Amino acid sequence: MTIAYTDNELYMEQVLLSDLVKQVGTPTYVYSQACLQSRLSAYMSALERHNTSKQTHQIRYAVKANSNLSILKWLAETQIGFDVVSLGELDRVMRAGAQAKKVVFSGVGKTQEELKAAILLGIGCFNIESESEFYQLSNLAQALQKVIDIAFRVNPDIDPKTHPYISTGLEDNKFGIDIPLAKTLYLESKKNKHVNPIGIACHIGSQIETLTPFKDALNRVLDLVNFLQENQIMLQHIDMGGGLGIPYEPDSNIPSIKEYIDALCLPFKDRLESLFVEPGRSLIGESGILLTQVNIIKKKQKKTFAVIDAGMNDLLRPALYQAKHRICSLTVQPGIPKSYHVVGPVCESSDQFFDHELSIQEGDYLSILDVGAYGMSLASSYNSRPKPVEVLVNQKTWKIIRHRESYEQLCQLEII
Ligand code: LLP
Repeated sequence: MTIAYTDNELYMEQVLLSDLVKQVGTPTYVYSQACLQSRLSAYMSALERHNTSKQTHQIRYAVKANSNLSILKWLAETQIGFDVVSLGELDRVMRAGAQAKKVVFSGVGKTQEELKAAILLGIGCFNIESESEFYQLSNLAQALQKVIDIAFRVNPDIDPKTHPYISTGLEDNKFGIDIPLAKTLYLESKKNKHVNPIGIACHIGSQIETLTPFKDALNRVLDLVNFLQENQIMLQHIDMGGGLGIPYEPDSNIPSIKEYIDALCLPFKDRLESLFVEPGRSLIGESGILLTQVNIIKKKQKKTFAVIDAGMNDLLRPALYQAKHRICSLTVQPGIPKSYHVVGPVCESSDQFFDHELSIQEGDYLSILDVGAYGMSLASSYNSRPKPVEVLVNQKTWKIIRHRESYEQLCQLEII
């Protein structure tokens, strides 16, 4: 456990969080390097067990989950690759020291500027999401006199049984290419001198809590591999995207990383050289917490509100997906916990963190758990609220890895 109580005080690794919070203020994102390391090691060892003399399975971390440069740099040093969805993310991973060859580029709406920059950088694979993108990309490759490696991201029409906003593998979602069209495009790509089909990509959604949707999607992708082999199109990899959930509720029964990787690698067997996975949340989600202070306690007839100083601009998941994150005190206070409706200060009724049993007073500090993924990366400065500071904890030490935004910076790009 990298986040646990000792003598009623919450620690991350060996850092006393109530000390840290006095030095950096709130709201503050704090990440545990040990937790991230242990999730990464779980992925690496689960994949290595399936490696053979001819096969090396690989990780392409989904940068959108958390794109802090210090974290990207640390991940790049472990030699894993990255899944990016914009030129901004590509720029970040290059600054962080990624190898371009280990970058895959996903996304339904890549612009000409983005495609061109990625071609010139020599990234590892373009995960193409539409017929138009295929032609735009091959025309650009021709104009730049390059040969580029591509995969088509297919839409297997599988229900991942997750929140509809984060489901991507159903026929009526905007993502991916239907398999019949993908077949035509692979045959087309074989005739084109400037593109080289090396893989198939497939990402069906996020926070998926059972293995069946992944297995069903992989079966459809493997059928496509058969079709392509019959047509002399020999690929190198299948990229099964990300999507493994994490236990936001302590009693949820989510498959482990090993079970998830086994479920993909066993049917994959010796079919191609590599299986890629693009984990985001399951790699970094549990390593992050958001520290906040109780600002106001407000009793109304039916409920008592605890207004904290973190809002939907700092952590959007509850407002956007009705996601409930556990909340606990930095210092356990005596007294019987009472039910509080925890809300943020932003002027929207959706700015809420739901009901929690807490023993608190105004001025107390709280920690919102499991926010390492899609926490800071979804933060905004709505209501002109500066974005939080980010801190990385490593054993007994901690360092700031992003400063708190200042009011000056909030206005910097505007012209009066
Ligand atoms: N690969 C692709 C192509 C993706 O679109 C995503 C996430 C991933 C990988 C990583 O998925 P993960 O392993 O993190 O589930 N903001 C939402 C999640 C959106 C996920 C978007 N795509 C949330 O906070 O729940």
